[in-house]
Amino acid sequence: MKYIYTSIASIFLFVQLTSAQQVNQQEYYKKGMVVSAHPEASKVGLEILKKGGNAIDAAVAVQFALAVVYPNAGNIGGGGFMVYRSAKGEIASLDYREKAPGLASRDMYLDSTGNPIIKKSLLGHMAAGVPGTVDGMVKAHKKYGKLNWKEVVQPSVDLAAKGFPITKKQSGELNRIKATFLRYNPAGVAFVKQDGQWKEGDLLIQKELAHTFELIRDKGRAGFYDGEVADYMVKEMNRGEGIISKKDLADYDSKWRTPITGNYKNYKIITMPPSSSGGIALVQLLHSVEPFPMKKWGHNQDSTIRLIVEAERRVYADRATHLGDPDFYKVPQKQLLDPQYQRQRMSDLDWNRATPSSEISAGKLAPKESEETTHYSIVDKDGNAVSITTTLNSAYGAMVVVQGAGFILNNEMDDFSVKPGSPNKYGLVGGEANSIAPGKRMLSSMTPTIIEDKGKLFMVVGTPGGSTIITSVFQTILNVIEFGQSMQEAVTSKRFHHQWLPDEVNPETGAFSDAIQQKLTEKGYKLAPRTSIGRVDAILNTSKGYQGGADPRGDDTAMGW
Ligand code: DON
Repeated sequence: MKYIYTSIASIFLFVQLTSAQQVNQQEYYKKGMVVSAHPEASKVGLEILKKGGNAIDAAVAVQFALAVVYPNAGNIGGGGFMVYRSAKGEIASLDYREKAPGLASRDMYLDSTGNPIIKKSLLGHMAAGVPGTVDGMVKAHKKYGKLNWKEVVQPSVDLAAKGFPITKKQSGELNRIKATFLRYNPAGVAFVKQDGQWKEGDLLIQKELAHTFELIRDKGRAGFYDGEVADYMVKEMNRGEGIISKKDLADYDSKWRTPITGNYKNYKIITMPPSSSGGIALVQLLHSVEPFPMKKWGHNQDSTIRLIVEAERRVYADRATHLGDPDFYKVPQKQLLDPQYQRQRMSDLDWNRATPSSEISAGKLAPKESEETTHYSIVDKDGNAVSITTTLNSAYGAMVVVQGAGFILNNEMDDFSVKPGSPNKYGLVGGEANSIAPGKRMLSSMTPTIIEDKGKLFMVVGTPGGSTIITSVFQTILNVIEFGQSMQEAVTSKRFHHQWLPDEVNPETGAFSDAIQQKLTEKGYKLAPRTSIGRVDAILNTSKGYQGGADPRGDDTAMGW
């Protein structure tokens, strides 16, 4: 009997591995590649590339397709960040992060005694920032796109109008959150099945969203920030306690910013500047570990783990104090990015014990919840590369669907520091640099990144995961550069996280052997395991072609040609 079970299990494993290999991992592609969180979105991107579109055309199409097929994080009611590198080496980054509405104020989520009102920055209309995605896509396409705008928007009109088959994971998730959706949208929404439960393969049709995409297709920016959709938005705000106004929508402006660049050994890192903390923190982390022989120590071995944890502890402490929207706060970027500064920060690392976070700085312990955002990576046939991370913040954002327009509003306001020292959804603390002000962007951890090796494209990488985003991108890069893993192995490998506060190490289940766990505990590290950290979608440029890394933690899919 035991034998039969084992055989069935191994056949199942074989089938799983074979199909994974077919779609993604061990293949090399010469002409281009798309890795995203949903097979339907990856398909849309690949079709655009095959039609002669470039990486930006495909990126716009995938962003919009994800808003239809991956509504927990894909969005037009949220925002994101793009890092771009052309085949010739031109680099750019686009900040289409949401902004605080004009009526927002510093203490808007505090009660009369000055304490944060539970969930006010997370659920319902008040939690939403002014969406940036549509403006961002219009801007990116205008500057770099090759295909006609209508051609890149049309696939999303079709997906929303005709529907798409939901995956098993999605059916479970939609069934689980039905009650919350109904609480915030009593009139009903496409995500709530009228009769019974969702199951894998059911078609999700979103008629209102299809119409919104038609308007975006035909009118560009005005199709979203003006006219019918803007009217729906303001009506929706009036239905709840929302404060986004017509003027906020009209004023929204995404921004081209100079990417953060830095070196790790022979590699050049090109990554996202503030209003994300991700890029600066990533380069700080790489600078922190660069002098140490990790390759010799080995992947997820005692010394490697401790080095990474101590680097993360120090870098996340800096994040809490020094990072915020650069249009409102002077970020000490130059100092943070100086490799000498990082060496000095690491100089008190004590190999005999964990450095308590209280010795690095002060703060409070924090709650944790589930996480949702999404990242995708694209390379086209000429070698142009796009790295985009985009989000509504938590899964399905504020849980509010704009009636008539069919899209979900973000709950990004929670990424502000609602009160100094008071942890947000991800347990992150902050202060003045990230306080709320009208028109200001809330600090992000999103870290879309592109890496060059001796002037040539090397890697496109990024992930969701709230505060763990920076960690996951950092460790995926080390997995390839230091530990010689393939792109897929680097993405699949178990990760671990430390964010200064709370003072604990979060390994994914099975990341550390028993012996290593014991060693770490003896040295004073508190271990608090998590089931899953991040969903990295990445592309590696090798001498044989592009290699994809699609995260098996989700429905993520790599497709190339
Ligand atoms: O911008 C940020 O850092 C967060 N709003 C990202 C949220 C996220 O990644 C949720 N994740 N899976």
